[in-house]
Order: sequence, then structure tokens, then C-alpha cells
Amino acid sequence: MSDRQQPELRSRIEELRAQLREHNYRYYILDAPVISDAEYDRLLRELESLEAELAEPVPDDSPTRTVGAPVSQVFTPRLHGEPLLSLANAFSADEVEAFVQRIDEALPDRAHSFIIEPKVDGLAINLRYEAGRLVVAATRGDGATGEDVTDNVRTIGDIPWQLKQIDGIELPAVLEVRGEIYMSRAAFAALNARQDVEGAQPFANPRNAAAGSLRQLDARVSASRRLGFFAYGAGLGGRAVAASQSQLLERLAGFGFAVQQTSIAGDLPALLVAYDALQQQRPELKYEIDGVVYKLDDFSLQDRLGAVARSPRWAIAHKFPAEEVTTTVKEIIWQVGRTGVITPVADMQPVAVGGVMVSRATLHNIDELKRKQVYAGARVIVRRAGDVIPEVVRAVDVDAQALMPEAPDQCPVCGASVFRLEGEVAIRCGGGLSCSAQLTERLRHFVSRGAMDIEGMGDKLIARLVDEGLLRDIADLYELDYASLHDWPGMGEKKIANLQAAVEQSKQRPLARFLHALGIRHVGSATAAALADHFAALDLLAQADEAALIAVPDVGPEVASSILSFFREAHNREVIARLLAAGVTPEPPQRQQHDHPLAGKTVVLTGSFTAINRRMAQEQLRALGVRASGSVSAQTDLVIAGEKAGSKLTKARELGIEVADEAQLLDWLGWH
Ligand code: IVH
Repeated sequence: MSDRQQPELRSRIEELRAQLREHNYRYYILDAPVISDAEYDRLLRELESLEAELAEPVPDDSPTRTVGAPVSQVFTPRLHGEPLLSLANAFSADEVEAFVQRIDEALPDRAHSFIIEPKVDGLAINLRYEAGRLVVAATRGDGATGEDVTDNVRTIGDIPWQLKQIDGIELPAVLEVRGEIYMSRAAFAALNARQDVEGAQPFANPRNAAAGSLRQLDARVSASRRLGFFAYGAGLGGRAVAASQSQLLERLAGFGFAVQQTSIAGDLPALLVAYDALQQQRPELKYEIDGVVYKLDDFSLQDRLGAVARSPRWAIAHKFPAEEVTTTVKEIIWQVGRTGVITPVADMQPVAVGGVMVSRATLHNIDELKRKQVYAGARVIVRRAGDVIPEVVRAVDVDAQALMPEAPDQCPVCGASVFRLEGEVAIRCGGGLSCSAQLTERLRHFVSRGAMDIEGMGDKLIARLVDEGLLRDIADLYELDYASLHDWPGMGEKKIANLQAAVEQSKQRPLARFLHALGIRHVGSATAAALADHFAALDLLAQADEAALIAVPDVGPEVASSILSFFREAHNREVIARLLAAGVTPEPPQRQQHDHPLAGKTVVLTGSFTAINRRMAQEQLRALGVRASGSVSAQTDLVIAGEKAGSKLTKARELGIEVADEAQLLDWLGWH
């Protein structure tokens, strides 16, 4: 290769460095490599030999000089090429009319139309593409400077790493694409269910959840949160690719972005019709919107109008009214959860919000309760956040004389003293499993569907067994004295026999389910599955040290420390020993899932998916033994089409290939 020309050599070196960085990233951060270790080594060796051949100093950041991908520790500030503006709000038709009038007056000589876009409830992001490659993704920050969240943004399937070419459009050297990162309703519900199982605080709404997920230091956590993205604007370079907002959206779609459906209107009545229509559609959308944005379509007219302060004169957000009602708090209840967290809950006079009767709302923690000034007897505004979870917005007409609640210093159920973990607002009951509330919740979790699945062991029966002192820990479930249940009301011969059979059956469960059932803090079903997969045996997990735990995908220092302290606890070790002695036999995972209906098939995913990000879906399918391919051909067995599927779907139909939709995909991935 000594006769190779220098420019050619350099360009191959650059290409290899970029490829290897991407593979490092996929391997170390995403835990989702797309090439084999051997292939990786081959690329690395080629780079090493070419760098030697070039005989120039090798930069420190070359993959031959670095180990792994840099893990982000802090979010570096990033100056946006052009500032990210915000939008002025309109809360009534009158305010929209005033907006339209101002524009009509400013542009008397020019016909002008507006584009109408749904206002996605997420967070703004600026994506900087250089020569078509994503180089930096930054949050809005103060509008001029944001925080670098590139690693996390790379895990979002809707955001291309490389822009697609569009015929006749030359990509500008720098193009800043703006849009909204959001979490779909389905992903939000799934995340909060997970948070609940793991004893973590639920997120109040999808926007908070999206923001929290994006600002994770570990991109793998971000990836697991299944975020979506809609592009709706451009900064630097935008004028080079389009002359109007409608054209820009078309181009952005062509570059590979998801964009929302929009419409065009010429005057106020048409804007208001579109607003009403979107408000109607709102409950059916797969993601949350909190209003409608009207933008003057033509860029040259936008430029003529300019901006005031931090909002452009050429656009306005017409917000939907939030559904809020007022009611009275009867009492503040302190609820003890499975992990001992004691949460304040407002017990209120029942009231209808968004068609659902609401009487209870969590106040999350004492800080939030104080901030919202909620006390027994307070008048409060209640809202259904994300149209699902009832939320106390704040108290109204606060009575200065009212007695503000204090956090209890004893567990309201067992009387044990409470404690706080460092860095947490939550207070916890120190009673452990001697606290019947914790015990009841833990037992409920242990027998639940996704865990040991003991049919017939319902909430009421558990509560009674705990009250009677027959269940003092989970191991007691397998040492029950069934004879003593005979004279209980509602416990017939048959019921008792069925219960006994169900308990017996539950002794054989996959290790993953057993681990999940143990209720170790931070170990939900996904982490339990990863641990089972990795260790394949309970005793190996119980003996693992921190380093061994952290080597498991999905496990970070916090989860590792929680697992370590669980197995260090003598009581837990004793309960496990009793479970095993009673015949509970967690089954090691089967390494190959040949029985999956899609195993061995060649599958192509196309279009955009709402509940799952496409890249994640591909990785999960691959784990099931599916060949997830990028292009449709005669070899393709199945095409799974999301929304806005284009040419691949057409081709699949032409070739008579079977087509499935997102719901089926989720079924196959076991999401239902
Ligand atoms: S345009 C100058 N379009 O709403 C243009 N923003 O309240 C500013 N948003 O900061 C943004 N959907 O985070 C625009 N279709 C949409 C939007 C949208 C949601 C967000 C965005 C913006 C905020 C303003």
C-alpha cells in the first residue's frame, strides 16, 4: 500500500475514525453493537496500519488512542448558531385576531398565508449538522447557549445521524434543525409503570418525563425512555434550503425527520376552524399537544416582521385551555409504599375533571406539598396532567392561619421512625418488612402477574393474612397452613385447593421473574431480565461484586449498590434460603429463543413508530433472533410499517410481502 496517494490515505483514515467512533458509541453507550468484535478489530487494525503509513503524529482522539466512547459527565454549554426564540401566547380568539391584524397592517401590500402546526408539549432542541452529519445537539438553555446532550439525542430514532440527500438541494455546510423532543402517551405510561415497580417517583407529565430522560448522564437510560422528535424549524442554513415554512417542513421530511401534519389558512376564521379541529383531535393523538402554532408561511415576510424581545412577530401559540376544576381537600393522607417511601396524598371532595371523577391526588413529597400550600380544608385547583393522572395545581385563597402539614416522624402504619436517604426528598419508613404496609405492598408485588403470578392471592386475602399474622414475609407464602383458612368466610374447599395449586405452580418461574418479584429497589422487570440473562443463576448474582454488576447492560452504580445492599441484608438472605428450601426453583434463561414466531425471519421496519423508537425495536428484534434488515427485497419475510411509511411499504406491497403494524410489533416484543 506504500504507493497509495496521501489524500486518498487521509480520507480513508478519516472515514475509519468516524466509523470506529460510531461503533464505540454503539458498543459502550448504547450497548447495541451492529458489527462483530472481529469486524471491529479488523477496522481498528486497518486504521492503525494506515496511521503508521501516513507517518504523521496521531491525534489524541483517534480511536487507536482512546478506549471506548467518552461518557458524558457534565453537560457542556454550547452556543447556538442562531438563537432559539420562544413564542408569544394567545389564550383567546381575540388575542389571535389582534395578532392577525398586526400582521395585516404590517404587510398591506402583500398577500400572506399562515401555516398551522400542532404545538407539541415537549422540549426544544437545536441539532447542528455539518456537511449533513449530526455533530451537536443542544437544549434551548437561555436561547443563546444550551447544554450539549448529543449522546442522548443520538439514541432517538426520529433524529437522523446523517441527513438524506434530496435531489436538487445542496446541503449547506452548517444546518441547524430545530424541533421538539417529546414522549408519547404510551411511552409515558410505560415509564411511569416502571417507575412505580421500581419504587421511583412517577413523572408528573410527558414533558417532564421527556426532559428528565434527555438529561440523563447515562445515554443508555435515555435510550430506554423511548423519546420522539418532530422537526419544525431551522436556524443557520435554513434559508438556503427553503423559502417558506411549508417548504422547510417538506425538506426536513426529505432529510429524514418526522414532521407533523400541518395546514394552511389565509385569514382569522380559517385559523380558528383549524384550532377547533385540532382541539377535537387532541385526545386521539399519540402524544400531547398544548395548543396550536400559527406561523406566517413566507420566510421573506417573516424576515420583514422580525422579532420583539425573544419572540418573533410572525408567529403565535394559541394555547388550549387546561382542564382545571376547584375542590376542597378533606385530609392529607400519608401512604406507605412497597419500598417504604411515605407519600402525601390529598384526599379531596370528589370532582369531575375531563370526564373522570377524581378524589385522590399524590402530592409526591413534603417539598411539593409545602410549595403548593396544600392543607386539610384547603381549596385547590385540580387538573388531570397528561389527561391521565390527577394533579393538585395549587391551593387558592390560602388561609394564613391554617395549619400546614408537617412530614410525620413516625410511620403512620407501623410507628417505626422515618429516615431520608442522602440527596432524596422522600421520607421512608424504617420498619422494613415488620411494617405491615410495606409487607402488604411487597407481597402484592411478589404475587402479581409480571412477578410470581399466584392466581387467587388477591389484595384482600393478602391484607387478611398479614393482619392475622400468617404472612410475615414472602417466604411464608410457601409455608402457609391451609387448614387454618377453612373457617374463613368466602374460603371454600375448592378455593383453598386452587390457591394451594397456584402457590405450588409458582415455584417454577423464570429467574428474571423471580428477581423482579423480590422487589429490589431499582430492579424492575427490564433490569431483572438483564441480570438473569447475564448471571443465569441466583447464587452467581448474589455473590457478584460491584464491578461484575456494572458489567450488566442497564445496570449503573446506583442499581448495583441497591443490589449489593439487598443481598448483604441478613434478613433477605434468610428469606431467599427459605424460599429455595420450600422448593422455589428459579429457572435459568433459555439462551436461544428459537420459539419466537419471528426468529430467523428477515424483517424490515419502516415509517415512524409512536410507542417505540425504531432503532430500539430493531435491537430488540435482533435479540429475538430476527434478521432486521434495512431494505426490502425478495428475501424479506415481513415489513413492519409505522406511520408515514413510504417507498419501502409500497415495494413490500408490490412484492406481495406480508405487512404488519406497530401494534403487532409491540405484541411480538411482548409489550402487551
Ligand atoms: S416554533 C420562533 N413550532 O413551543 C419559533 N415551537 O412556547 C419558535 N413548540 O420553544 C418555535 N411545537 O419548544 C414552534 N410547531 C411548533 C412547536 C413549537 C412546540 C414549542 C417550542 C417553543 C415553545 C414556545
